[in-house]
Amino acid sequence: MTETALHPAPLIDPFARAISYLRVSVTDRCDFRCVYCMSEQMQFLPKAELLTLEELDRLCSAFVRLGVRKLRITGGEPLVRRNILSFFHAMSRHLESGALEELTLTTNGSQLERFAPDLAAAGVRRINVSLDTLDEAKFARVTRWGRLPQVLKGIDAARAAGLRVKINAVALKGFNEDELLRLTEWCAEGGMDLTWIEVMPMGDLGGEDRVGQFWSLKDVRAALGQHYTLTDLAERTGGPARYVRLEETGQKVGFITPLSHNFCESCNRVRVTCTGELFMCLGQEDNADLRAPLRASAGDGPLEAAIRAAIARKPKGHDFDYSRQRADGQVSRHMSHTGG
Ligand code: 5AD
Ligand code: SF4
Repeated sequence: MTETALHPAPLIDPFARAISYLRVSVTDRCDFRCVYCMSEQMQFLPKAELLTLEELDRLCSAFVRLGVRKLRITGGEPLVRRNILSFFHAMSRHLESGALEELTLTTNGSQLERFAPDLAAAGVRRINVSLDTLDEAKFARVTRWGRLPQVLKGIDAARAAGLRVKINAVALKGFNEDELLRLTEWCAEGGMDLTWIEVMPMGDLGGEDRVGQFWSLKDVRAALGQHYTLTDLAERTGGPARYVRLEETGQKVGFITPLSHNFCESCNRVRVTCTGELFMCLGQEDNADLRAPLRASAGDGPLEAAIRAAIARKPKGHDFDYSRQRADGQVSRHMSHTGG
């Protein structure tokens, strides 16, 4: 096989999975302190540790050259990174060239009122907004620093700018259990899809600030099934999400069970942290440093070589198991570092 700079061989891992989806965390910082994600006195990384916006551009562009078609920007909260809009605008060149199919982000919504029009102008079409409750007091409790009205205004601004909004809610027993229907109806009214996420054994879950407990998505699904007719959808995104359609509303509801590993065989994604560590699997510690090759050379040869070497050891699957203790399946790094 011949390789040219214009048509490099795509990234295929040892299990014949093509890597077409990259999630990149652009900051470990956030203006919220969700109890299942961060401690209140989070220590953030010194700025020099973070990839610069220019390095992020080189890194993402290299992945796009190597076949990544979908790019999701995460954090922390990506929109608190200074000048992040310039990065989105820079990435839009890959949308315009057709190399990239989708540029998207996961956000807590706090900055959307300000940024939604610019994100739309940069070619973002869909966004995920994390929102666990529609109750102001509960919202303040679970996010510690967040304020619900600000997020709701942000969501309105996003929809007004033409962005499709999907809501991600972390399922917490005894916390938002009673809001299952309210959240579902609110999303249906706004034309928004809703995805429930099983809480992962990361960060401070189980600490003093515990607001809820593991709420199995099997139970969420069963509870939803008491009020709606659920039809399983075949649709998969190569990730841990499963979808059903609610026949009464036509709405799509997703379930993300990161702890089950029945999706690994179709895994098409890798993650890069804000310091440039490439994680080949969310559930395993093995990673490759991409910051060193980025900083070692102005050319992208070493970077591309490091990416290929890492993909060549992408594991077959992960090893989360909620029933076991930290030493076994638990991943010690925070979500805000790896990206949600
Ligand atoms: N378990 C599940 N989801 C989490 N998130 C953050 N921490 C956890 C956790 N421990 C989610 C947020 C958001 C995304 C960025 O990651 O709710 O949807
Ligand atoms: Fe911030 Fe999202 Fe973590 Fe909440 S879950 S602290 S919004 S990064």
